[in-house]
Amino acid sequence: MQDHPVIAIAIDGPAAAGKSTVAKRVAERLGFTYIDTGAMYRAVTLACIKNGLDPKDEAQAVSLLPSISIEFDSEGKTILCGEDVSKMIRQPIVSGNVSYIAAMKPIRLALVEMQRKMADSRSVVMDGRDIGTYVLPQAQVKIFQIASVETRAVRRYEENLEKGINTSLKEVEEDVRKRDYIDSHREFAPLKPAPDSVLIDTSFLSIEESVNAVLEVVKDKTGVTPKC
Ligand code: CDP
Repeated sequence: MQDHPVIAIAIDGPAAAGKSTVAKRVAERLGFTYIDTGAMYRAVTLACIKNGLDPKDEAQAVSLLPSISIEFDSEGKTILCGEDVSKMIRQPIVSGNVSYIAAMKPIRLALVEMQRKMADSRSVVMDGRDIGTYVLPQAQVKIFQIASVETRAVRRYEENLEKGINTSLKEVEEDVRKRDYIDSHREFAPLKPAPDSVLIDTSFLSIEESVNAVLEVVKDKTGVTPKC
């Protein structure tokens, strides 16, 4: 049983800033549910590609919405129409197209509705680009997590290697720069820090140090401390 009201922690920031790793650990430490909103945009992108549709064509992408379902199972795996796509959504073809899909307003509106429902009755750590500014503006804790583009590219490159995803460091850096540009320049709910967010630069922080930095802000803003 929770001994505090429903709490929302929003972690936003540019591509490959380590948000999901940090958000997952913060959620574990606090006993909150972790929600990876990027995985949802990636799942829609994958669905487009699988169905032979053009992820840059809004009418084609939007036509898919009524026929797809996206869920997270109890282990946090991403389930698209009943299939575990957690690995497939990390492939370069999806990363290279996801920002086009994420710039489409009807797609964002549909996914944001799902995201708000997920945070409705339980405490969550939700990571993305627009969580503190648009999805959960009432979140008690808002973090904007950054790192230099070079650091982010190396981190994602190493993460890809571990997952058996074959990409060069140059390709990864180009993808990160391209997504940052599209994500911050789109018209609807662009990537930007909420005015009441706390900036955490993880360029020189380990994962554990980044997690602790977020937990400090959580304690400061809500009084909630880790269970483990
Ligand atoms: O893990 P990484 O930082 O590379 O990206 P992600 O969180 O998986 O998000 C993939 C893409 O989805 C981003 O580059 C954005 O285009 C989009 N996205 C978004 O627009 N809004 C969100 N709340 C989350 C992701």
